[in-house]
This record gives sequence, C-alpha cells and structure tokens, in this order.
Amino acid sequence: MYQDLLNKKKTVAVIGLGYVGLPIALELAKKVKVIGFDIKEDRIALMRKNIDPSKEIKPEAFDGCDIHFTSDKEDIRKASFYILTVPTPIDKHKKPDLRPLLSATKTVGEVLEKGDYVVYESTVYPGCTEEDCVPLLERTSGLEYISDFKVGFSPERINPGDKKHTLTNITKVTSGCDAVSAEEIAKIYEIIIEAGIYRASSIKVAEAAKVIENTQRDINIAFMNELSMVFNKMNINTFEVLEAAGTKWNFLSFFPGLVGGHCIGVDPYYLTHKSAMYGHHAQIINAGRAINDGMAAWVAKEVAIKLLNLYTNIKECKLLVLGTTFKENVSDIRNSKVAEMVYELQSFGIYVDVMDPCADPGEVAEEYGYELIDKPSGSYHGVILAVSHDEYKQMGEADLAELLLPGGMVMDLKGVFRNKISSLKYWSL
Ligand SMILES: NC(=O)c1ccc[n+]([C@@H]2O[C@H](COP(=O)([O-])OP(=O)(O)OC[C@H]3O[C@@H](n4cnc5c(N)ncnc54)[C@H](O)[C@@H]3O)[C@@H](O)[C@H]2O)c1
Repeated sequence: MYQDLLNKKKTVAVIGLGYVGLPIALELAKKVKVIGFDIKEDRIALMRKNIDPSKEIKPEAFDGCDIHFTSDKEDIRKASFYILTVPTPIDKHKKPDLRPLLSATKTVGEVLEKGDYVVYESTVYPGCTEEDCVPLLERTSGLEYISDFKVGFSPERINPGDKKHTLTNITKVTSGCDAVSAEEIAKIYEIIIEAGIYRASSIKVAEAAKVIENTQRDINIAFMNELSMVFNKMNINTFEVLEAAGTKWNFLSFFPGLVGGHCIGVDPYYLTHKSAMYGHHAQIINAGRAINDGMAAWVAKEVAIKLLNLYTNIKECKLLVLGTTFKENVSDIRNSKVAEMVYELQSFGIYVDVMDPCADPGEVAEEYGYELIDKPSGSYHGVILAVSHDEYKQMGEADLAELLLPGGMVMDLKGVFRNKISSLKYWSL
C-alpha cells in the first residue's frame, strides 16, 4: 500500500473534510493522490475554489495539491486507502451519537475492495472501531476483516486556532489490526508527519489514548473551575493563586473557564458511556463534566449577584459580552458555553449585547438565535470578557472604561485584564 500510494498507483480518500479532514487531505495531496469526499456539497464547492469553509487554512495551502474534491460517493470507489474524519458528537442525552461515523463507514463499505485499508481518525471510545464500525464494513462490503481488508485507528490531535502545534509537527499515534497493517499505516503517515509516529500496540490503545488526552484536560479545567467557585466565596483571585502555585516545578498549568467546543466537553462522555457498559460508574470524569457543564449558569449567577450589589434593579442593566466562539482566535461556535451564559443572564431580565470579531454573525443567529453587534451600542453596566481573542487581550483600562457607564464593572472570565485594572470595578473567575 505504502509504495503504491507513493507511486500514485493507488489513491487515498479522506471522508469528511472539516477541521480535521481537510488539513490531512491537503497535506497528503502534496505527496500522494487524494480524493476529498464530503456529504456537504456547499463545502465541496468552496474547497474547489481553494476556500476552507472552516476558515483555518489559507488558499495557498491548496496550491500544487493532487486532490479531487467530490460529494459523489461513486468517485471514492477509485480509492484504496480510506481515512475517516467525520464528527463524533453526543446526543441530547449526552450519549455518543455514532450516526455520522456509521453512515461514513457504510459509504466506505459499499465501495471497499479486497486489499483496501480503512483508517479512522474520529475520536471514539475504546472498542468503537472494531466493535461498531468493522462489522458494518464487513456487512456492506461482503468482505472479511483482516484477511480481505485492514483497519487502523490514528487519532487526530490538532488544536484549532493553534499556529504552533500543527498537523505535521505533532507526534501522530497510529495503530493497525495486525502487525503488517500497523507498520504500513505508520509508514504512510510518516510521509507527512515530521514530528514522527508513535506506533500504539493496538487499535483500542490508540482509541483510549486519544479519549483520555481530552478527558484529562476536562478534569483539570473542572478542578480549576471548582477552585474558582471556592475562592470566589473567600474573595481570593483564582488567577493570582494559580500564578503563585505555578512557581512550583510540578504544578500543572490549567485555568478556569467555560468548556465548550466539540472535543473537551464531548469526548469524556464517550469514555463514561463505554465504562458504564462495563459496569463502572466513572466518578471523577462525571464529576468533572458536571462542574464544567454547570459553569455557564454559575458564572451568570455570579454576574447577576455582582450587578445586584451595584444596582437596585438588574432588569435595567445592560451587559456587553466580548466573544462567543468556543475558544480564543477561532471562528468555531459549536457547543459554545457563552451562549448558555447569555441565555441565563437574559433569564434574569438583563439586557445582553454580544460581540465577536471571529464568529460568523449568520451562523450565530442560526445556531443560538441572537444577533451579534458590530460595535457597542452606548455604555454598559458591565462588560464580560468571555473569550480571550487577541483583539480583546490588547485592550487596556481606558478601552474598557469607554464601554462602561460610570461605576460599571469589568467581569473577566479569562483573567486577562487582571494586571491592567487600577480604578475600574473588576471581578474575575
Ligand atoms: N476539530 C478538532 O480540532 C479536532 C481535533 C482532534 C480530533 N477531532 C475529532 O475529529 C473528528 C472530526 O472533527 P471535525 O472537527 O473535523 O468535524 P467537522 O464537523 O469540522 O467536519 C466533519 C466533516 O464531515 C462531514 N461529514 C459528516 N458526515 C459525513 C459522512 N457521513 N460522510 C462524509 N462526510 C461527512 C461534514 O460535512 C464535515 O465537513 C471528530 O471525531 C472530532 O472529535 C477534532
């Protein structure tokens, strides 16, 4: 497979061209022949014009790539090495929603031929690839696992908005269903990954490694959020405590905040779901999830208390929220907890304006039902820094004062203005 791909005798198909799929497809297309497949025709139309619909990749990255973008299932029949990078969300009961993964698996199963490889990159629970996907591949293709086709799992570790840790300079974990496929898959990823490959001992190990990376992060942030709730009662600034504690060599660097997006706030549920199937109730992971899922409501309540201490009628208060994406310097608004905070504030009768230089106003209106404003409308009783976009980090006390009514408060969920405020009223997590 490796040699045939390099000689362009065989083709790679990347299924699902989003934040994960498009970068991998383009990187591979610099070296091998690639078909980029997505069910969304509007996204394919943009990619054909060298436009990344997720706004992460510059048009130049498409230059010189040997890639054919398509939403026609028949086109992927020509491929022999399939990489699946489709979403793995949770449903409204916070259970894994495998529909996109199984649907993409079925698409591949229908065109799978003897000798082909299928590698999953979507984040799943340990066992998902071999217990949920492989049987479907067998059923739809009529082929036999391992003897007719090989499967692997190679989790994606890219971090949206992070210009330092990019696809090629992050160590990639790979795995295969047997020794031959494990080596072949590792060599194929080595074509593009400069940081090197870590060969996991099995598909399950690779699946588990990915899901615990994000779960570990979720639990650590939950700890910070809990500290913030405690220190808030004690009138101690959490960021000051963390800065002091951080002078110890083995103190871990995490900060409180809203945990949204499609990874950190979602993946732990995949692990707790599978662990429950084995009869283990994952207490630490679930506790972390409960804290982080409740953080937006807690912040809104604290903001309301601050306003009540300053003004007699909070229903007459006007707030400006800076940032609505799920994290800094990205346009991605999926599962943003800022929206939840906004709804909570509105439920107290507080008027809320939201600004965000990175988010698409149309997407926000469609997804969350509120209109972003271009510029502040008058002055506010409070300004909430919800997302630390670079643009906001550059603001000083004078900029914030301009947004506030006399006596108004800066509410800083990210602790970015902590050392800049001397006269304005200030609260941070
Ligand atoms: N975004 C990240 O930074 C990141 C990082 C590491 C891992 N992951 C994981 O990678 C996977 C993909 O995430 P993403 O952020 O790229 O998602 P995404 O929503 O940005 O992209 C997924 C793409 O798949 C397409 N798609 C959906 N169903 C399909 C199907 N049946 N056939 C073909 N295409 C289909 C969608 O149209 C979309 O373009 C998820 O499991 C996610 O948890 C994401």
